[in-house]
Amino acid sequence: MTIIYTAFLFLLVAIYISSTLAQNTGDNGRVTYIIHVQPDPTIAPPSTREDREQWYKSFLPTTSNGQPQLIYSYNTVISGFAARLTKEELEAIKNKSGFIHVMPDRLFHLTTTHSPSFLGLHKSSPGFWDSSNYGKGVIIGVLDTGVTPDHPSFSDQGMCSPPTKWKGVCEFRPSNCNNKLIGARTLLKGINATRAIEVSAREPYDKNGHGTHTASTAAGMFVKNANINGLANGTAAGIAPHAHLAIYKVCANDFCAGSDILAGFDQAVDDGVDILSVSIAAESYNFYEDSAAIGAFGAMEKGVFVSLAGGNDGPFDSTVSNEAPWVMTVGASTMDRDLRTTVKLGDHHVFKGQTAYQPESFKSSSLSLVYPVSTLSNASTCSTSYSLHGIDVKGMVVLCDEGDNTEVEKGKNVKNAGGVAMIIANVPIEGYTTFADTHVLPVAHVSYVDGENIKSYINTTSTPTTTIIFNGTLFGVTPSPAVAYFSSRGPSQADPNIIKPDIIAPGVNILAAWPFSPGPTPSAGANFTVISGTSMAAPHISGIAALLKNEHPDWSPAAIKSAIMTSADIFSNDGYYIADYDLDNANFFTVGAGHVNPSKANNPGLIYDIKTSNYIPYLCGLGYTDTQVTAVVRRSIKCAEVDAIFGFELNYPSFMVFLTQSNNFTMTLNRTVTNVGDSMSTYRVQVQEPSGIRVTVKPETLSFSNVKEQVQFAVTFSKSISSTENRFYLEGFLMWVSLNEHITVRSPISVLMKL
Ligand SMILES: *[C@@H]1O[C@H](CO)[C@@H](O)[C@H](O)[C@H]1NC(C)=O
Ligand SMILES: *[C@@H]1O[C@H](CO)[C@@H](O)[C@H](O)[C@H]1NC(C)=O
Ligand SMILES: *[C@@H]1O[C@H](CO)[C@@H](O)[C@H](O)[C@H]1NC(C)=O
Ligand SMILES: *[C@@H]1O[C@H](CO)[C@@H](O)[C@H](O)[C@H]1NC(C)=O
Ligand SMILES: *[C@@H]1O[C@H](CO)[C@@H](O)[C@H](O)[C@H]1NC(C)=O
Ligand SMILES: *[C@@H]1O[C@H](CO)[C@@H](O)[C@H](O)[C@H]1NC(C)=O
Ligand SMILES: *[C@@H]1O[C@H](CO)[C@@H](O)[C@H](O)[C@H]1NC(C)=O
Ligand SMILES: *[C@@H]1O[C@H](CO)[C@@H](O)[C@H](O)[C@H]1NC(C)=O
Ligand SMILES: *[C@@H]1O[C@H](CO)[C@@H](O)[C@H](O)[C@H]1NC(C)=O
Repeated sequence: MTIIYTAFLFLLVAIYISSTLAQNTGDNGRVTYIIHVQPDPTIAPPSTREDREQWYKSFLPTTSNGQPQLIYSYNTVISGFAARLTKEELEAIKNKSGFIHVMPDRLFHLTTTHSPSFLGLHKSSPGFWDSSNYGKGVIIGVLDTGVTPDHPSFSDQGMCSPPTKWKGVCEFRPSNCNNKLIGARTLLKGINATRAIEVSAREPYDKNGHGTHTASTAAGMFVKNANINGLANGTAAGIAPHAHLAIYKVCANDFCAGSDILAGFDQAVDDGVDILSVSIAAESYNFYEDSAAIGAFGAMEKGVFVSLAGGNDGPFDSTVSNEAPWVMTVGASTMDRDLRTTVKLGDHHVFKGQTAYQPESFKSSSLSLVYPVSTLSNASTCSTSYSLHGIDVKGMVVLCDEGDNTEVEKGKNVKNAGGVAMIIANVPIEGYTTFADTHVLPVAHVSYVDGENIKSYINTTSTPTTTIIFNGTLFGVTPSPAVAYFSSRGPSQADPNIIKPDIIAPGVNILAAWPFSPGPTPSAGANFTVISGTSMAAPHISGIAALLKNEHPDWSPAAIKSAIMTSADIFSNDGYYIADYDLDNANFFTVGAGHVNPSKANNPGLIYDIKTSNYIPYLCGLGYTDTQVTAVVRRSIKCAEVDAIFGFELNYPSFMVFLTQSNNFTMTLNRTVTNVGDSMSTYRVQVQEPSGIRVTVKPETLSFSNVKEQVQFAVTFSKSISSTENRFYLEGFLMWVSLNEHITVRSPISVLMKL
């Protein structure tokens, strides 16, 4: 009963909060707005924090309702402030000289150790971990739900003190911070002002788990014998175990206000972080309305690499969020590790499942199997305690469909009704992605296809039986990586002219630090759990960026991104192209450039760099107004005086191409590559043409005699065969291959042909 109550409560809170942020109600009818303003014209830059706050306050009118409340006075990534305002107060501010742009505060949500060796960080000698000093000296900022400071993943054994540029603070007791956890702050004034969530503690303790998990994935310390209920046992470590962590608590429970996220970016950049890891998403917005895009722009401009979760709204098209070209947009894929259970049916057919709870006390035996189809609503999903009423499940294995509630809650319902084990069957859109959860009874979570096969078996016999067998932790599972069904897909709504997401990284059944003892049996010592989401994928990329930053301190955020993208793997461990959730080949709007390969990213040969100034013609090309562009880039822009470009013209490491009547089915794109490999080097082009498309590259050979030397080339895409139908997502690759064939600089090409 309590479980269902909790589930309903959660739902109500969600609805209440999203409406408060969207519908603009609050104290005296005030709601939070983020106001972009010009810098104070009377003060020569650089102005102080106090100067700026005075200037921002001068915008706040005094009305009959009293003075509106200033929530944040931003410093670095935006020129402006967040304040609680009535409609009238907002109108008065819009009238003031210096006002640029307003955005309503919006709601974001959380997107939810074997991975270092799956990513090959241990491999070859010296491996990338050795040469990059495990990310020593690099600071990763994490915007999330806070952290668990006394967790062994945040021990600072063997770590040096933070670099002198570090200016952050520790809002825990000072003894809670150390050379690993160098800072922690709470920035929840925005969500607190909505009064939709009780924000009690000032300290950035993680009451959710999400922030502890993501921080430890990026830069957790080595912890021996980490496991979940004895499974996945081994030494856990983040991707950059010697990088420093700075925590910004910008989410309360599962919710995060845009004004708090912006404050997180602002403070982190001021404090001196090198990398920002953000496992938070909302729906896709225009960049000038998107706190994360605006905050990330200011961060990028200061040389901070930003890794953002692409969202969990897959497998549907056009669901990707956090897709500004100046950030790394990360999708989620599987690893080659299963926490395996085997389902053996009475007819001897065998199916593979997963669970993170495999108690030794459970003795496998043949049991009756039941699929609770009945006239009762929600029977087949086992989603309520009454959904199994009137169905005899005592002592049986119950087959439950995915949907309606969480997997763990289904198990509780089955157990309460007297069932002894459960099989969870995916629905079609979930395909082959299965979760290893911390269940309360023996479980096998199986794919959609396997679930259908089990159901037909049940249909064909009057006494269906099954044996559930625990197989523990298995490695080398094929095919992997495969894209998770939930990973959000492109094309991007904010700008379909760039392929998004950019990259995929492990995000399914990831073992990392957790504040609580997970599962029914408290594990001894450290607490770890397994969860899934693009939230888990983004911090893998943050950790890899920290390793790259240690080796290449002069690389720009765009250079790090290019290195990761052009060296990514496009095949899974069975030798075929990376599979999607349904085992078909995943397209580039699903995998981006492919699956991250950290060691190769360390030696990319050539990079596609982008300067901050290149984004100004880009933003004008999106059709934004002068004030909208000005709000994002924080300097006065007149698009009429700018040679605007489209997204496909940015010096991006992937190619989006449109062939239509209006361009006579021909498009030429220029790119510039920078040599970051050997000073004397030569690359030859290799093209895998999309079917029906001719690709010509000029010149076909690029020769460099210096490091950092730049060379431009032009790629022409044209229709090569007569076709009478529109063709979407024709895919191919452009590769620059070094003469010794040691380096391949690969870019995906996606062509949309409209007759
Ligand atoms: C804004 O300025 C216009 C014209 O200057 C004036 O008519 C209007 O009353 C002002 N609105 C507010 C809310 O001050
Ligand atoms: C939350 O808001 C209340 C009421 O405005 C205020 O008293 C309290 O200090 C705030 N809490 C935090 C943590 O900011
Ligand atoms: C985990 O592995 C270590 C080392 O192999 C071993 O000593 C320990 O007992 C294992 N723990 C569990 C719970 O299997
Ligand atoms: C019951 O099923 C309906 C239809 O699938 C769904 O909308 C509803 O949320 C479910 N209720 C519960 C409590 O799971
Ligand atoms: C099982 O039988 C039911 C009722 O005859 C039918 O609706 C369903 O499609 C069958 N399921 C499978 C997987 O064969
Ligand atoms: C799972 O365990 C059973 C029983 O020990 C064994 O027969 C089967 O081969 C195992 N499956 C895998 C994939 O290891
Ligand atoms: C582990 O979980 C237990 C139970 O929730 C908690 O009391 C303990 O503080 C946790 N330990 C760590 C290191 O987080
Ligand atoms: C369009 O392309 C075709 C074939 O490439 C060429 O023959 C023709 O001259 C082009 N037309 C224009 C208007 O450029
Ligand atoms: C693209 O490159 C070609 C050949 O290198 C050059 O002629 C052309 O002017 C370039 N276009 C732009 C827009 O830079």
